[in-house]
Amino acid sequence: MTPPDGRALKNPRATHDFRGRTCSITSVGSYVPERILTNAELEKMVDTSDEWITTRTGIKQRRIAAADEYTSDMATRAALLAIKRGGITPQQIDLIIVATITPDMPFPATACLVQRKIGAMRAAAFDIEAACSGFIFALEIGQQFITSRTYDTVLVVGAEKLSSIVDWSDRNTCVLFGDGAGAAILQSRPNAHGLLTACMGADGTKSELLSMPGGGSRCPATPESVASRLHYLRMEGKETFKNAVNAMYTAAKESLRRCELDISRIKCIIPHQANQRIIEAVAERLGARPEQLFINLDKYGNTSAASVAIALDEAVDSGRVNRGDLILMVVFGAGLTWAAAVIEW
Ligand code: ACO
Repeated sequence: MTPPDGRALKNPRATHDFRGRTCSITSVGSYVPERILTNAELEKMVDTSDEWITTRTGIKQRRIAAADEYTSDMATRAALLAIKRGGITPQQIDLIIVATITPDMPFPATACLVQRKIGAMRAAAFDIEAACSGFIFALEIGQQFITSRTYDTVLVVGAEKLSSIVDWSDRNTCVLFGDGAGAAILQSRPNAHGLLTACMGADGTKSELLSMPGGGSRCPATPESVASRLHYLRMEGKETFKNAVNAMYTAAKESLRRCELDISRIKCIIPHQANQRIIEAVAERLGARPEQLFINLDKYGNTSAASVAIALDEAVDSGRVNRGDLILMVVFGAGLTWAAAVIEW
């Protein structure tokens, strides 16, 4: 497909791992729980203010799942919408990948629970964990199965119930996070470039900046670990902020370079929805215009792996992106991990 300015798109995969088949996102869906938790309500729970949260983060409210609503339930709602919009049946799905740091339980995989709930009994299913970067990591994995001709239809979901691991007495973190899910169906579409490139990265030397220390083999659940609040998310905000800006800028720049694209060619930039100031700092360094950015963190806060998945669905649903438009998605999360993807929608 030739873009409106007449310059042919460079598909970087054509030069190395591309095997004559492209991978497109053929439909999307998302789900957020009904319950809205506002900044005003948080003022009554911890020593904070709407003014602090709004100016430091841009977040006004977030969604909180019901006590009996789990990550797999939200993933299922988003997946069923994407399946319906894509005009496919669950039986057509070959593979389900769920990106999450809040699985229903340590095992089995939430993807297997989603498989059962949507009735996709032909599908293989597994989870991946790359924190807030998980959805792009999962897209890239799914893409590899499509372009290698291993599978025809892959369901990718980013879903989180972060309210289950947030320490509601810690004002440094509890104001930032929310729950929700977003889903995408990957298939090969004729005459479309689809997922042009994805740059992924990690830096395990900075794993302590953002973690949940308890609940794994290093620190199994004990009365002491619970009393020490080790089963809650912990974050060093300032350092995380600096690393986020640098990593998101570098990944975005590299993905544009691989496609020989200038930022001005991108119709819609969908960044990880963690903090308005992070997004603005990355956009400024990239030379992006404010109207290129898609931002919904004011409504949902940081929903980790679900963040860009929900934003992509809303960008498509609201008509911000149309078929043929170029999208830049860029994410950052615990690990540390980061990724950027260029997509011809
Ligand atoms: N209300 C009022 N005051 C607060 C609050 C609050 N909710 N939270 C912190 N403060 C206070 C602090 O205690 C501190 O007070 P002090 O100076 O008396 O010590 C002051 O505000 C400033 O705190 P900072 O941490 O310096 O604030 P900063 O401007 O860095 O903003 C924030 C904090 C919003 C957390 C920011 O650092 C940030 O967004 N970091 C990145 C988060 C992120 O991107 N995470 C990515 C992935 S998440 C994942 O992977 C699961």
